[in-house]
Amino acid sequence: METRLYATKDLESLARLIDIHVSVVPPFLPVGIGGTRAILDARDPWDAHYPEGGFHSVCEETPCVFGLEGSGATLQASPLESPKAILRATARIRRIDAVSGATGPGQCFIDWLAVDPALPESGGPLIAAIEAKAREWGCPVAAVEGRNHLGAGWFGIPEVWSHLLDRFEAAGWDRRDPWLILYGAMPADRRDGEGWEFRWDVNEKAGEWGLTAFRDGRKAGECMVWGIPSHLAGVPGMEKWINLEYVGVEEEFQRRGLARALVLEQARFHQERGASMASLAGPAGRGLALPTLGVKNFILMTEPDNHAARGLFESLGFAYGPVCWQFRKRLR
Ligand SMILES: CC(C)(COP(=O)(O)OP(=O)(O)OC[C@H]1O[C@@H](n2cnc3c(N)ncnc32)[C@H](O)[C@@H]1OP(=O)(O)O)[C@@H](O)C(=O)NCCC(=O)NCCS
Repeated sequence: METRLYATKDLESLARLIDIHVSVVPPFLPVGIGGTRAILDARDPWDAHYPEGGFHSVCEETPCVFGLEGSGATLQASPLESPKAILRATARIRRIDAVSGATGPGQCFIDWLAVDPALPESGGPLIAAIEAKAREWGCPVAAVEGRNHLGAGWFGIPEVWSHLLDRFEAAGWDRRDPWLILYGAMPADRRDGEGWEFRWDVNEKAGEWGLTAFRDGRKAGECMVWGIPSHLAGVPGMEKWINLEYVGVEEEFQRRGLARALVLEQARFHQERGASMASLAGPAGRGLALPTLGVKNFILMTEPDNHAARGLFESLGFAYGPVCWQFRKRLR
C-alpha cells in the first residue's frame, strides 16, 4: 500500500466512509464533503485551548494520509487513479517528535481512521501500513490517544465502531483508558443556582466559557464548556451542540446541588447568547465553532466508573453514548 495525500477526486469516497462512522456517534451528524475537507485540513483543532503550548504542543509533525482501496470481498492494491476503485480504509497519522507532558517523545499518533464496515478486513492492512510507517519514522510507540478529529471532542475509538476495535486487538494493540460519552438536550428555563455566587471567565476567541461558583467568598465549584472543534464548525446542525469539558465541586460542597446548578447555568447562558457572536464564526470549517443562539445539546465524556458524574448527568436527563477506547502499541 502506498502513502499518499488525497486528491479532490477521493473526497466523495472519503466522505462516505467518514459519514458511516460519525453518524452513529453523538452528535449523529454526517459531515459531508465540506466537513471531510475540513477534517483533512485540520491539524491541531484544539490548539486554541492551549495557547501556551502545554500538553498538546507539537514541535514537529509529519502528516500522512493513507488510502487503501478494494472492491468486492478482496482487497486490491489498485491505484487510486483507477476509476472503479472505492476507498475502503483510510487514516491520517502524524509523527510528533517532541511533546511536553505525559505523551513522551517520538510517538506516531492516529488522528483519525475509517474502515468500510462492509469490508472490515481492510482494517488489518491499514493498521499494518500505519505500523510500517511509524517504524520508518523511528517511533517507539504508535497510539490512538486523545481527541479523535472526526468527533466533537471525544477521545479514541467508539465501541460502536466494533470493526475497528477488533482489528486493533488482532494486530496486538493494547486497549486502554476508556471514556464514556454522555449527551443531552438541556432545559431552557430551569435554574438551580440559589445561594451560590457565579462568576464567568469567558474567552470567546478560543471558544471557552468558564463558570465558577463561590459561597461566602470561597470557591466551591467550576464548570468549563468548550465550543465544538473549529474544523467542524460548518457542519449543519453542529451549531446546536456544545462540549461540556469539565465540572467539579469541592468536596465540602458536594451533594448540595451545585454541579447541577453550574451545568444548568451554562445551558441557560448558551441558549441566550447574543446573535452578535455569529460574526466571530468564519465560513464553513474555517472559523471558530462558536454557537450562536439556541445551543440545545451538550456532549461530554467521563470515566465509565465515575458514578457521581453519571448520576449527575442522568439526573439532568442525559443519554449514554458509546464508550471510547484508546489504543497503543510498542513498536520496539
Ligand atoms: C460529579 C460532581 C461534580 C457532582 O457534584 P455535586 O455538586 O456533588 O452534584 P450535585 O449535588 O449537583 O448532584 C446532582 C445529582 O447528581 C447525582 N450525584 C451527585 N453525586 C453523586 C454520587 N456521589 N453518587 C451518585 N450520584 C451522585 C445525584 O443524582 C444528584 O442528585 P440528588 O442529590 O438530588 O440525588 C462531584 O462529585 C465532583 O466534583 N467529582 C469530582 C470531579 C468529577 O469527577 N467531575 C466529573 C467530570 S465530567
